[in-house]
Amino acid sequence: MKEQQKIKKIALVTALLTLVLVGLGGYVRATGAGLACPDWPLCFDKFVPKMRYGVIQEVMHRYLALVVSILIGVMSWKVFKLGPAFKSLRKFSIGLITILGVQVVLGGLTVLMLLNPYIVTAHLACGTIIVQLLLLLAMEKTEVVKESPSPENDSYMSKLLYFMSGLVYLQILLGGFVGSSGASMACPDIPFCQGQLYSANFNGPQLIQMLHRANGILIAFAALVCFLKARQLQPALGIKPGHMVAMMVMIWIQISLGFANVVMSIPVAPAVTHLVLAQLILFGYLVPARRLSGKRFFGKNSAPTGQTSFGAASPAQGLNDSAVQSVQLRRVANA
Ligand code: HEM
Repeated sequence: MKEQQKIKKIALVTALLTLVLVGLGGYVRATGAGLACPDWPLCFDKFVPKMRYGVIQEVMHRYLALVVSILIGVMSWKVFKLGPAFKSLRKFSIGLITILGVQVVLGGLTVLMLLNPYIVTAHLACGTIIVQLLLLLAMEKTEVVKESPSPENDSYMSKLLYFMSGLVYLQILLGGFVGSSGASMACPDIPFCQGQLYSANFNGPQLIQMLHRANGILIAFAALVCFLKARQLQPALGIKPGHMVAMMVMIWIQISLGFANVVMSIPVAPAVTHLVLAQLILFGYLVPARRLSGKRFFGKNSAPTGQTSFGAASPAQGLNDSAVQSVQLRRVANA
């Protein structure tokens, strides 16, 4: 029990530091400091190089990445010490370490391949997965899932929220490509590009810029659908429509920041805020999607009856992952 709480705490600290790390990565890019250190993993062949503007941002990003990697290592070691019963948690740790490994290599390639936009976007893609996985683990409820009054509604809403998360993740990738491929100012007017929504004469950067804008608007509509569905399925659903309202507000702030980026020719603060807010929006859909799906990282695979993976003794709380799922499946079959 204590060890699991410790793992959650490490996950939370690591998640927050990783979020700062992603924001710092955006800051490095927005200030044009990406190649301030021409070599990797050292900077001018030194762990602590001579500090000047540009090098400072770049090495801070690297130092923080080192701290995050160590924390993920410590957390995974603690997970493996819990024993083989925590299968999902072990799988989670193996997945996380693998993505971290890929991310470190991509970080190096970002410098060695001179900020190649595909590599920069892949680096953002993996960084986003790491932040989200850590946040999901840190936010998992310690009390075990109760029987849902309406598993069918939960399952429907969970799928909708996963779909929404997919749209937001795609938008993050598109945004990363816009920023790194020089398409940020491809359309200097708003809301359209040279007064047009689409033209066969658009060049590559203009197309990718308009795709990013269009997907942003699609996300705003999809967020409205999520809100309406959550309201319709209340009160059975374990998710509040207020949460969905907050998400819509965040999305409209994000869209405004996007347009501010263009109008103000990519100033540093709105660009970094745009990046960090995108992570929070994704998280705001992923957490309820996972909760409603009934899946848990901490679910013990062989928890004895009446004993939760957190040691609570209520029979309802004693359900492990597969038990909760089979109750839900039986209900669906009987419906
Ligand atoms: C839900 C909506 C949106 C999300 C989740 C989102 C997300 C992102 C992300 C993650 C980036 C990468 C930032 C970086 O790598 O530093 C980005 C870049 C960008 N986005 Fe969005 N975006 C959204 C809507 C919009 C809209 C409507 C516009 C309108 C023009 C816009 C304009 C831009 C621009 C210009 C960049 C490049 C910024 C730079 O060069 O630093 N975004 N977006």
